[in-house]
Amino acid sequence: MTSTDLETSVVATAYARWAPIYDAVCGPVMVMGRRAAAAAARSVGGSILEVGVGTGLSFDDYGAGTEITGIDMSAPMLEKARAKMASGRYPFVRAVHQMDAHHMTFPDATFDCVVAQFVITLVANPEQVLSECHRVVKPGGRIILVNHLYSEVGLAAAVERWAARKTRKLGLRPEFPFARLQAWAQANERTVLVERRKVAPFGIYTLVCFERTAGIRAA
Ligand SMILES: C[S@@+](CC[C@H](N)C(=O)[O-])C[C@H]1O[C@@H](n2cnc3c(N)ncnc32)[C@H](O)[C@@H]1O
Repeated sequence: MTSTDLETSVVATAYARWAPIYDAVCGPVMVMGRRAAAAAARSVGGSILEVGVGTGLSFDDYGAGTEITGIDMSAPMLEKARAKMASGRYPFVRAVHQMDAHHMTFPDATFDCVVAQFVITLVANPEQVLSECHRVVKPGGRIILVNHLYSEVGLAAAVERWAARKTRKLGLRPEFPFARLQAWAQANERTVLVERRKVAPFGIYTLVCFERTAGIRAA
């Protein structure tokens, strides 16, 4: 873990506090990123694992042709997701489990697609979580991430570095660089970067898609 990574206990405390107000605050703000990731996952179809499913805000973005499993380490966030499931509106959501994304209990190659919306920048060890996502996705399957990523240059980058110090306890990490995701992919010879794009309307969020290759990637 580098000095800037978040500790799991800080994240757990933060999301226990977020749970009652999460949908009202983070629903509208992050909706476009969430939808873009779900649309990319729907284009893969089949069994989809949502890592850090939270309160289940993304359930509206899926439907027939998908089978959703969610995991999250926060019981208060999952309680909200389970209440949505109990409404009967989401028959394609099979189950949500309280589970740490660093140590998933699913067998290897279980899912057609793994999605993590607004999660990878705040886990304690992003590389370990990516490797777990890679382990549980089938060869040929995809790992789809959406997040705000560090702007790298200019005023936005300066603001993000400043905000980084202030927002840790809220479970946020605005200065997380794309280079870290790229380095993980380069070190994993059964991974290719399929897509990296800004999400409309303002490009605040970036969608990143990796594929687990069936064989070893050509050099
Ligand atoms: C910003 S919220 C995103 C929730 C949801 N994906 C969305 O788009 O609204 C981050 C979620 O990741 C969960 N989380 C953080 N670290 C985790 C970990 N190590 N394992 C599982 N879930 C984790 C938090 O509990 C929280 O529900």
